[in-house]
Amino acid sequence: MSEIDDLKKEAGIAACEVVESGMKVGLGTGSTVAHTVIELGRRISEEGLQIIGVPTSIATQELALEVGIPLAELGELGGLDVVIDGADEFDPEFQLIKGGGGALLREKIVAQSSSRMIVVADERKEVEKLGLFPLPIEITPFSWTETSRQISIILESLNCSGKIVLRRKENLPEVELDGVEFPRTDSGGVFVTDNGNVILDCHVGANITEPLTLERNLLNLAGVAQVGLFNNMCDAVYLATEAGVRVLRKNP
Ligand code: 5RP
Repeated sequence: MSEIDDLKKEAGIAACEVVESGMKVGLGTGSTVAHTVIELGRRISEEGLQIIGVPTSIATQELALEVGIPLAELGELGGLDVVIDGADEFDPEFQLIKGGGGALLREKIVAQSSSRMIVVADERKEVEKLGLFPLPIEITPFSWTETSRQISIILESLNCSGKIVLRRKENLPEVELDGVEFPRTDSGGVFVTDNGNVILDCHVGANITEPLTLERNLLNLAGVAQVGLFNNMCDAVYLATEAGVRVLRKNP
């Protein structure tokens, strides 16, 4: 395991202290929160912890079932006690960029349904200003180039223009989505989300000064399914540092 993997594991496991028997728990997506899911599975089998989980992606659903976490549909539960999830960046106001793993839409639905959101992260994720990590935006395949053009206008209007890149992965095949062909290129095949959409990664640099306005304006576009800005959602960050895990709380 690399040092970063060790830090991710420490943060992921430490955050499990917020979970008690009887809770309904949102299970985030990514390599950090995977450690949380595994630890919750261990507590269920070894300590008799009783929880119900709601996964934020197919990948997390598979992992949760593998480690023995009982799952339910979000709509059956009348809200969740807590969601634990990773993040790509968080700023001093606890505004987040998420979606590096492509699960932003389900992650935001689950976060909005939870009384508390706990983020698990290593120290590379703490930033003064959001945007160095490319902002993921999930959009419909239909007319995706036009949606991309409209997004660029909004980014420009808030002084955070930059290259917009359709997310691809090397090992993916060419696909047709809603009648739109996505051929392979040198960068691979297009990445398709669990919801059948595609993702634009917006390389705006650390220039997001108005995350709330940016999120709202982008969500106004019909082709945008979700934006990877998670504003005013996160309550605490379990931050793994070389000196140990620090718990940063929004309202201490
Ligand atoms: C997935 C996410 C992840 O939580 C985020 O990308 C962080 O992932 P990792 O813990 O692997 O660094 O938002 O959509």
